[in-house]
This record gives sequence, C-alpha cells and structure tokens, in this order.
Amino acid sequence: MSLLNPNYNKLQAGYLFPEIARRVKDFQEKNPEKEIIKMGIGDTVLPLAPVVVAAMLEKTKELENEKTYTGYGDSEGNLALRKTISDYYQNLNCQIEVDDVFVSDGAKSDSANIAGIFDINSKIAVQDPSYPVYVDSNVIYGRTGEMSDIGQYEGITYLTSNPENSFLPNIPEEKIDLIYLCFPNNPTGAMASREYLEKWVEYALTNQSIIIYDAAYSWFIQDINLPKSIYEIKGASSCAIEIQSFSKFAGFTGVRLGWSIVPKGLICEGAKPGDIQKTWLRRQNTMFNGASNIVQAGGVAALSTEGMLQNQKMIDYYMQNAKIIKETFEKLGYEVYGGEDGPYIWVKFKEMDSWQAFDYFLEEYGIVITPGSGFGPAGEGFIRISSFAKRENVIRAMGFLG
Ligand code: MLT
Repeated sequence: MSLLNPNYNKLQAGYLFPEIARRVKDFQEKNPEKEIIKMGIGDTVLPLAPVVVAAMLEKTKELENEKTYTGYGDSEGNLALRKTISDYYQNLNCQIEVDDVFVSDGAKSDSANIAGIFDINSKIAVQDPSYPVYVDSNVIYGRTGEMSDIGQYEGITYLTSNPENSFLPNIPEEKIDLIYLCFPNNPTGAMASREYLEKWVEYALTNQSIIIYDAAYSWFIQDINLPKSIYEIKGASSCAIEIQSFSKFAGFTGVRLGWSIVPKGLICEGAKPGDIQKTWLRRQNTMFNGASNIVQAGGVAALSTEGMLQNQKMIDYYMQNAKIIKETFEKLGYEVYGGEDGPYIWVKFKEMDSWQAFDYFLEEYGIVITPGSGFGPAGEGFIRISSFAKRENVIRAMGFLG
C-alpha cells in the first residue's frame, strides 16, 4: 500500500501566491470588465538587460554547433559563473572561494532544500512574518507538529517581528539549531544593521547554530553602510549559509537562476570544517543536474560591470516605485514600513483582517496586494505591496487610493 506523506496535510490548503492567483482569477471571471493591477507577488516586469540577452543568445548559438555543443555541466555550476560569484564577494571584502559557491535554479529551491541536509530533530526558528517556504519546507520534512490555533506550528520558534522591535526580533535565549534570517526582509522591508547581525553571528558561534541567510533583496539596499552579505560580519563563514537570487536584481524570475554559499569553514555539532559543504555537494550531485548552461551564461553577463550598470537602472526604477507607494500610503495616514532599503512596503491595516483587506483592495480598486497573515501569524493586520510593477500602473493604482 502506498501512502502520501502525511505532513502535507498539516499545511494550509494552498501555497500563498498560487492562492492569491486563484482568487484573482476567480474575481476576473466574475468581473471581466474590471481592470486589475498586480502588486502582490514580487514578480519583475522590466525586460532583461541587453548584455544578458546577448550572452544567452551567444550560448544558444554554441549549442547549435557540434564543435561548441556542451551537455551536462557540474551540478554545482559552471566554473565561469562560480568564479564571477566569488569575485562578487571578494568585492565586498568577503573571502568566499569558488568551491564555496553552489549555483542553483533559484533561491526558492535552495531555501526549501537546505534544511534537508540537517538532522530531523534540529530546532528551527523563523522571523515572523517570513517568506513561507522556510516554514512549509520544514513542515514537509516532518520537523513540526500541527498548526496551533494561533497559526504557529508546534516545533518551530517564531521570532516575532513588529513595529515595537523595528522588525528586528530579539535573539532567543534558548539554543536553536537552524535560524532563517532574511534581510532586506521579505515581507516587512526592514533591513538589519551590521551590529544586529553581529549579535546573531555571535549567538550562532556560541551555540554551534547555522544561520540560513536569505539575501535575495540585498541589491535594493540604498544605505551604503548596511551589509549586503552576512559574510561582511566577522565569523559568519563558520556559521552562515547565504542564499542569493538573480530573480529580483536581474529580472530572472522566469529565467531561473540563484546560488547558495556553503563555506567550507562551516561547523555545527558533530561536523568539522568541510563536512557541511561536502554534504550539500552530495545532495546536489544526487538531486540536481545543474542550472541551464544558457541561463548560467546570462548570469555571468548579469554580474559583469556592464550588466550591473544595466541592472542598476531596473533596481532604481523599482525603488522609485517603492517611494511612490510609500509616500501615497503615508499621505493617506497609514503606518508604513519598508520601501527604503528593499522593494516591499508593509502597511498596518487596522480596519479589517489581512485577507479581508486583500478582498477589499481587489474589489474596491482592482489592486492585488499580499495579505500579511500569509507570511505568518505576526503578519496579521498588515498588507504587503510589491514595487515590482510598471510605473504607469503604480501611478494609476496609487491614484485610485488617494
Ligand atoms: C514574494 O513575492 O514574496 C516572492 O518574491 C515570491 C518568490 O520569490 O517566490
């Protein structure tokens, strides 16, 4: 007799973003005349940088020719891209070597897969609210009990992030094995100072914990004093894995490319330097055959000097959108967070619960937002607005509101 993995039954019916898409589709079917402006999922709308497209076309042409055709690459990524990524870290003064770099098809897969190499009894902690993949993947692995009445899974430590702590949760008193941190934060838009991250690194080194640091939005940091990578913090390469993405800064949401840094110096209980990296390599060799070679060529171009100049225009465009959105909600008298060093705007919405607010924005204004509770119980009472939209749509949407 075959049985389904029962842990799936513990999850909420639908993953957040498909659930939003389902509700929007349903609304559109019932209201075909209504114009919809999407500011829900953080999905890029601007075309790829020309240098990226040129590199991918060139690689595609190589595949047409018997002499230049290549098949499988290394599952950890092509050397040229790994070298480019290691150079990116060297420019931030972080000593990340080529063999610490693992290329993937995006940050979402790595965020879900990484916990699989750690002991099933590992205690985990997440910022609450947080990107839902961290929690859901651990539920699927079987690390949790059922969800309680207050929307928390038994077995997960929720680090409440709210306006009172500036969305920078307190460091736990107890020992946690795996801690997920995301800065600039999705969904709150908060950014951590160097001093705050130093406290986490000290905690992790003291407790032999591992920080899983999602830096997918680091490209949107405006304050040059803020750290773009956890490895800018002394000691982090012994206790932190960093996950990165080409999706947001280079518009690869549909192209798919990301990376993880699993430094050889990492240690945890029972694992000496090199063991965690070796285990991740073993996992990737077994379960992943590498990202598309065409896309990896695009990745090298995206991180080149020319590529970054072209990408910077997109980053500036989205951050200008963020400013417009933030100012509109502020003028309307809302408590508004984020939007300064990250592309998400997090708004306190007192009038109704966050799914009701989702329906209200959709029905009243045709604007798709993301309900805060979709990111965890501490997100209740908030809505998230994404700045990844066309400028004319942002202006129109904000015009409907104010
Ligand atoms: C989000 O909108 O929170 C994310 O960008 C979606 C994703 O990357 O999976």
